[in-house]
Amino acid sequence: MNIEQKKCHQDIRLSRRVKDLKPSITLEITAKAKKMRSEGIDIISLSAGEPDFNTPDLVKEAAKQAIDDNFTRYTPAAGILELRKGVAEKLKRDNDLEYSPECISLCSGAKHAIYNVIQVLCDPNDEVLIPAPYWVSYPEMVLLASAKPVIIPTTESMNFKITPDLLEKYVTKKSKILILNSPSNPTGMVYSGEELKALSEFVCKNDLIVISDEIYEKLIYDGEHVSIASFHDEIKQRTVVVNGFSKSHAMTGWRVGYTAARIEIAQAMNNLLSQSTSNVSSITQKASLAALLVEESVIRNMRNEFLKRRDLIVDRLNNIAGVTCLKPEGAFYVFPNIKNLQRGPSMTVANALLDQAEVAVVPGIGFGADENIRLSYACSAEDITEGLNRFEAWATPPS
Ligand SMILES: Cc1ncc(COP(=O)(O)O)c(C=O)c1O
Repeated sequence: MNIEQKKCHQDIRLSRRVKDLKPSITLEITAKAKKMRSEGIDIISLSAGEPDFNTPDLVKEAAKQAIDDNFTRYTPAAGILELRKGVAEKLKRDNDLEYSPECISLCSGAKHAIYNVIQVLCDPNDEVLIPAPYWVSYPEMVLLASAKPVIIPTTESMNFKITPDLLEKYVTKKSKILILNSPSNPTGMVYSGEELKALSEFVCKNDLIVISDEIYEKLIYDGEHVSIASFHDEIKQRTVVVNGFSKSHAMTGWRVGYTAARIEIAQAMNNLLSQSTSNVSSITQKASLAALLVEESVIRNMRNEFLKRRDLIVDRLNNIAGVTCLKPEGAFYVFPNIKNLQRGPSMTVANALLDQAEVAVVPGIGFGADENIRLSYACSAEDITEGLNRFEAWATPPS
């Protein structure tokens, strides 16, 4: 063995930053389900994190046109002005938020947007308040910035929502950011205008910044979406709005999302973009411009389909002895409590459902809630019915 080969066989020292990084539990279960499927096992997947609809034709046509027009070169790191203007108009129209295009940063998905905001705002040891159940990536992104995630647990009896009184118990002098996600992944809960107003007062009083993840904005079944940034100028200055087209326009693979924030934050975001990933794909940017023109009725049709499936899945779950499920008001997930099934913690239940009932769900532990599992209804009504038949048969003890 020569010296070079020897070097190859020595252990590689990865950075501490990534050594402690947890892989996504969602992806772990999905990979296992995929493997079982490739072995010929008929798995029903209730674990998808993306709409099962296709991207609207108008968007696809715009992308094809961009290629034919050779719109294939670098763009400004924050995105083309036309798209940033379009996003600013959308925020005015839908959310009553006034931003200049300079305050908008296009990123490669809402996930990338949130990662970048945390990088831009957090120093080591800054504390980030994260209500649980949370979207799996928030705590890991905070750790990647050497900051400290402070988890605020909530339960079904609180409708999985935080209040100023609860926040009071967790806020310290080191608290810098509060992450809000309404509608929520995984619970589907939606904060009302009144609830957000109370939270906004807490944020201002305690000198916090809000990252408001509004990616499921268009998928609301009861009530309406309110952006916390919309109450007054002070809370707007303290909020970074995160949104995108992935869930509303069935565009998960295109990788586009955006932030709207005060100019200092936007400029820092754009610096970071320019030294890391640069612009979102030029073709995706043209597609996103078209997405802004998609009729609301197209989005409403998808939402109406999700609504039917939500009612179906919630009814079926609540008919299983030992399972209780709140009715979510938005997104496309349900987050039933499985403690009274007495089949163990969420990972055990998810693995047993996959191995014994051939149904893929996601264990709640990844979302900071070990008494729950997450089921997605971004799949056909037939799959929901068959998946729940199997779940019920597995959960019901033989008499
Ligand atoms: C709450 C939440 N925020 C952000 C994202 C990321 O969205 P994108 O695909 O645009 O990166 C997801 C995707 O699952 C999500 O559930």
